[in-house]
Formats: sequence, C-alpha cells, structure tokens
Amino acid sequence: MRVVAVANQKGGAGKSTTVMNLAAVTAEHSKVLVVDVDPQKSVTTWAETADALPEGKQLPFDVVSETDPTMLKQMRDLDYDTIFVDTPGNLDNSEVLKAVVDNSDFVLLPSEPAALAMLPLINTYNTIVQPSGLNYRVLVTQVDSRSISDATEAQETLREYGLEVLKSYVRSYKIHERAPMTGNVATTYEASRNAEKAAGDYKDVARELLSIWVKENKG
Ligand SMILES: Nc1ncnc2c1ncn2[C@@H]1O[C@H](COP(=O)(O)OP(=O)(O)O)[C@@H](O)[C@H]1O
Ligand SMILES: [Mg+2]
Repeated sequence: MRVVAVANQKGGAGKSTTVMNLAAVTAEHSKVLVVDVDPQKSVTTWAETADALPEGKQLPFDVVSETDPTMLKQMRDLDYDTIFVDTPGNLDNSEVLKAVVDNSDFVLLPSEPAALAMLPLINTYNTIVQPSGLNYRVLVTQVDSRSISDATEAQETLREYGLEVLKSYVRSYKIHERAPMTGNVATTYEASRNAEKAAGDYKDVARELLSIWVKENKG
C-alpha cells in the first residue's frame, strides 16, 4: 500500500485533474482509492457525476471524502494498493496539508508551467515537503500542446531551483477541462485522437512514478 499526496498550495495547479486521471490509469492494474481531503470536495462531486453514468463508464476506482487527514492512518488497513489524496489549494489549509503529508509515502506536486506558478510551488515544497523528508516529484501540467517547449523550459527552471521534476508532463486538453462536468476520466473518455493523447500523458506519468517506486523498494 502506498499513500500518495497530491499537493500544491496554489489553486488551479491541476491537483484534482491529476488525482482522478492518475487514479484511473493506475486502476487498470491495481486497486485504487481516492481520498478527497479538500473541503471544496471537487473530486467527490466529480465521482458523484460519474456514478450516474451508464455501466462501463463508471470510475474504475473508489472515491471517499474525508476532511480529517489523520484517518489516512486507518485507511492503510484497507484492501487497496494505492491511495491518491486530493488536497486543498490555499495557504489557509497548510495544517491540513501537513497532516496529509505526515500520513503519506510520496508527494506529487503538479504545477502549471507559468513562471508565476513557481513561487507558490516552491513555498509548498519548502514549508511542507522538505521538512517531511518524503520522496517527491514535481509534475508540470496544463502544457499548451502547440508550445511544448514551455514544458521543457519550466522543467529546466524548476531543476535549477533544486527541485526533482518528472520527465513526463501533462498537456492541456479541452476533454480534461470538461471531465468534472461529464464525470469522465482518462480511461472512460469517448474515443478520439485527443482522448488518446490525454490518457497517454497520464499513462506516461504513472509509468515514470512506478519506476521511481520500484527503485525506492529496492533501496
Ligand atoms: N491537463 C489539463 N488540460 C486542460 N484543463 C486542465 C488540465 N488540468 C487541469 N485543467 C483545468 O484547470 C483547472 C484547474 O485544475 P484542477 O485540477 O481543478 O486544479 P486544482 O485541483 O489544483 O485546483 C480546472 O478547470 C481543470 O479542468
Ligand atoms: Mg482541486
């Protein structure tokens, strides 16, 4: 069982989108639970929308809302391989975020490639991730697919700040943007070229994370 906190104190960083899509692709070969610690309950609402969809379009993982992060301790006894935790995106909730990280094994930090997004990300790293001593990676998301160099430049800048950054990144697609309203995730999108690319991005992220975790287990 591995508990993965998805965090960034900046709202709109791509946390909830990352939690739902990584959960979907990870659930293709293991048992996955999403824990929604955000009082705004965006992924809980997303899952409720999905529950109303016909069979075959149902989410391939479970979602629970739990605003008490210490409950993550008890959840370790449940029969899941991976728990992804969606966290609130503002500084008021830093105590909650600290408690989530205290009960996690790994932190994934999604961030937009924009320079303005980097300060809140670095702040989250310095105040919450670094003191925890947990292994972590930054994931660059919402990359304009017409301007992929934005991704590589952002990755480079973040590495210059001393941060560990995933090689894979997530591009922006309308299908991701509409997903919370339609109740879909990467694995249930209606087939199209863009749906395939959107899902492919998160499959690459999942693969890279798995290889990091395999090395952790050996170490
Ligand atoms: N890869 C993406 N492509 C398109 N839209 C995205 C993508 N990732 C996030 N978004 C959109 O950006 C906004 C913020 O994303 P969200 O996942 O809710 O961030 P957070 O949970 O960090 O606040 C949402 O409207 C979401 O649909
Ligand atoms: Mg969110």
